[in-house]
Amino acid sequence: MKTAIIGTGYVGLTTGVALAYLGHEVTCLDVDAAKVENLKKGISPIYEPHLDELMKLASRNLKFTLDAGDALRDAEVVFIAVGTPSLPDGNPDLTFLKSAAQSIGEKIASPYVVIVNKSTVPIGSGNWVESIVRDSYRARHAYQGSGFVVASNPEFLREGSALSDMLYADRVVVGADDPKALDVLRKLYQPLLEQTFEAPAFLPRPEGFRAVHFLTSDLQSAELIKYAANAFLALKISFINEISELSEKVGADIQHVSRGIGLDSRIGNRFLQAGIGWGGSCFGKDTAALISTGKEYGLPMPITQAARDVNTRQRARMVEILMSELKILKGRKIGILGLSFKPFTDDLRDAPALEIAKRLLERGAKVVGFDPVSMDRARKEWGETAIELVSNAEAVFSESDAVLLVTEWPQFRTIDFAKCAAQMKNKLILDGRGHLDSTQMNQAGIRLITLGRATR
Ligand SMILES: NC(=O)c1ccc[n+]([C@@H]2O[C@H](COP(=O)([O-])OP(=O)(O)OC[C@H]3O[C@@H](n4cnc5c(N)ncnc54)[C@H](O)[C@@H]3O)[C@@H](O)[C@H]2O)c1
Repeated sequence: MKTAIIGTGYVGLTTGVALAYLGHEVTCLDVDAAKVENLKKGISPIYEPHLDELMKLASRNLKFTLDAGDALRDAEVVFIAVGTPSLPDGNPDLTFLKSAAQSIGEKIASPYVVIVNKSTVPIGSGNWVESIVRDSYRARHAYQGSGFVVASNPEFLREGSALSDMLYADRVVVGADDPKALDVLRKLYQPLLEQTFEAPAFLPRPEGFRAVHFLTSDLQSAELIKYAANAFLALKISFINEISELSEKVGADIQHVSRGIGLDSRIGNRFLQAGIGWGGSCFGKDTAALISTGKEYGLPMPITQAARDVNTRQRARMVEILMSELKILKGRKIGILGLSFKPFTDDLRDAPALEIAKRLLERGAKVVGFDPVSMDRARKEWGETAIELVSNAEAVFSESDAVLLVTEWPQFRTIDFAKCAAQMKNKLILDGRGHLDSTQMNQAGIRLITLGRATR
């Protein structure tokens, strides 16, 4: 099927590559010339495991362009995957969505086009996009309401495992008011739904995985499913973090508590790891948008608000714990291990590392940081923040008064801690992710404080 993707970021690129791999003819459109130039050379603008390899395998069916006409002219399905970042009032900024919808109306020419909102957009955006497309489409065609339809197909991928989340999804959710649009999208996703494609060697199909659930609904329900799913996951993380603070006070170990709760099949163990809390481009933005939508209808959403408050508090707690240990932060050297908001991605949007570093810098500390994949991005995006970026994990320890583990990259477990301890001014690690082994730290002569463990 001829498919266009508008916006070639984390979601658009992953979707485009996956659909091309499944056999569709995909053109990815973006407004960022440098990004498109690199993609044409096979260079991915983001770090995402196996994306380069899958892009290579799918290259026969995959094109990148800056030219909206080129992407949209023959498209039968058009995905909108542009960013919808938060505005200061919590509402998402829909500028990119609006301009994508205008280009669609100006350029589509196939007899029936399904326009799919894959961006996370406020409830009602399907109708809004439809009206923008209609206005610009009308300028060229005698609009009879049959040339296109807008559907919602929210994305649930997790950065760091985006490709397997897409190829072996828990579900595909599609909302549309026109049954024909649902049929088109069912056909588009068929190889994925029925798992008839040959699994790439580097992304093997999980054992016993046979089919993907295809859930259809009206537009609004599909839009709400995305917000509700993210709010629920955010809530689960904040819940365990709230319990984790109590755990420290009463002398419990949150890792035991978490396991004990998670073994209950009604609850499940995922998203129950206590720590600094969530970051990234979605949970903060989407919970703010949900609350903002509630407000529009006069409906307070106290549970979602509480999840946000607890998350903000976790970042502050890292600094509070350091202050209670070191007493004075002025003139101290603090190392940060991990800058990306989670491992296996280079995404720095709403990364806890930056907020924690800023709080430390405000209090007069010197901050050094290292990340296995997001150093270039940090140099570009955080240039002015005064975090000194060092070239390896060991350098973070040199003459430091404390090291904070902020992102749980697996390689941080294999650091030569005994060697690093010898270089530390004060042998203290604050583990914000429950990632390090206390026996190993003891042997290295390092005092380890883990969020949620009373042993500190
Ligand atoms: N990143 C995730 O993990 C994730 C997961 C699920 C859903 N989402 C949602 O998907 C959407 C996209 O997120 P992302 O992380 O991929 O964003 P991103 O910022 O990585 O990518 C957006 C891309 O759109 C391009 N763009 C903007 N306006 C354009 C236009 N008019 N025409 C063509 N290209 C345009 C930008 O240049 C950029 O490359 C957001 O709504 C987000 O909430 C993201």
